[in-house]
Amino acid sequence: VHVHELPTPALVIDADALDRNLAAMSSRLPAARLRPHVKAHKCTALAAAQQAAGHDTFTCATPREVIGLAAAGVGTDLLLANETVDRDRLRAMADCDAPVTIAIDSDDTLRAAIDAGIRSCLIDVNVGLPRCGVEPDRAGGLADRARSAGLDVRGVMGYEGHLMMVADRTERAAAVEASMAKLRAAHADVGGDIVSAGGTGTFDLHASTGVTEVQAGSYALMDTHYGSLGLPFEQALFVIGTVISVAADWAVADVGLKSLGMDHGDPSVLDGAVWFCSDEHVTFAPDRPGVRVGDRVTVVPAHVDPTMAMHEVVWLMRDGELIDRWPIDLRHW
Ligand SMILES: Cc1ncc(COP(=O)(O)O)c(C=O)c1O
Repeated sequence: VHVHELPTPALVIDADALDRNLAAMSSRLPAARLRPHVKAHKCTALAAAQQAAGHDTFTCATPREVIGLAAAGVGTDLLLANETVDRDRLRAMADCDAPVTIAIDSDDTLRAAIDAGIRSCLIDVNVGLPRCGVEPDRAGGLADRARSAGLDVRGVMGYEGHLMMVADRTERAAAVEASMAKLRAAHADVGGDIVSAGGTGTFDLHASTGVTEVQAGSYALMDTHYGSLGLPFEQALFVIGTVISVAADWAVADVGLKSLGMDHGDPSVLDGAVWFCSDEHVTFAPDRPGVRVGDRVTVVPAHVDPTMAMHEVVWLMRDGELIDRWPIDLRHW
């Protein structure tokens, strides 16, 4: 089947580009140096491809991602790099066949973990992003209380998400180093083997920060947001649309904000300039005249994670032919 026979909007992966991205990352951060973040794709089959590239440890943002990977037998060490006090979901994670570690940043999240039978945790440290994470000077105390309560405290994590898009690489490196100094200080008090941090924008800036594993996820499929940084990864994810209306100066395709993550701005289209998106439409100025109703358009998302989460399946494409169909099976919470 050819990609142009798919009903649209259709989510499509360029299989060769994905393979090159996985290889580019695993050559730089082999095996457990990378703990791939599955939030970026929510797809067990893609996680299995990351495992085939040498990575057995995974980062998750939701209990659903942890439980789904464990049920599929993908990964030997699953981290929920996020806080939850949902007792049922914590219990379901404690019952997983794979070893599960969860992030805690408070006595409330510690207590919820203990009550549900969770055995391992990381202390989540605030390294500058105003989101989750205990203040660095309180990490040691929380770790002591976690150990007294019977948890295995494996180390620390701290996500420097506010630094991913610092445009200048030298400035980004300096900011990451300052941020990771906080994580090192916390780790000195907490102990354990793991210092987990980083993302696609900072994946190559952790050689001497003390970080033992990088949590990148977007690198596998990429988006135009990260594409602007000049990273050694290429665009592998596209939404295919159909032109449904043509005017003198613009054309409209059936790919709107309900099939695209828009929080990082408008998508791009190959062979045209996007004017705007609405629910089910992208209006764009074609680069060349002659665009007709029924033509196919390739749309490039600005943000990979929410785009994946909006679709039930993603098609694998090689030379325009569809070679596989992967369920996006780790969606929801
Ligand atoms: C806790 C955590 N770690 C790592 C990442 C890195 O992901 P990305 O590869 O998109 O930079 C994220 C992304 O939001 C995150 O929330």
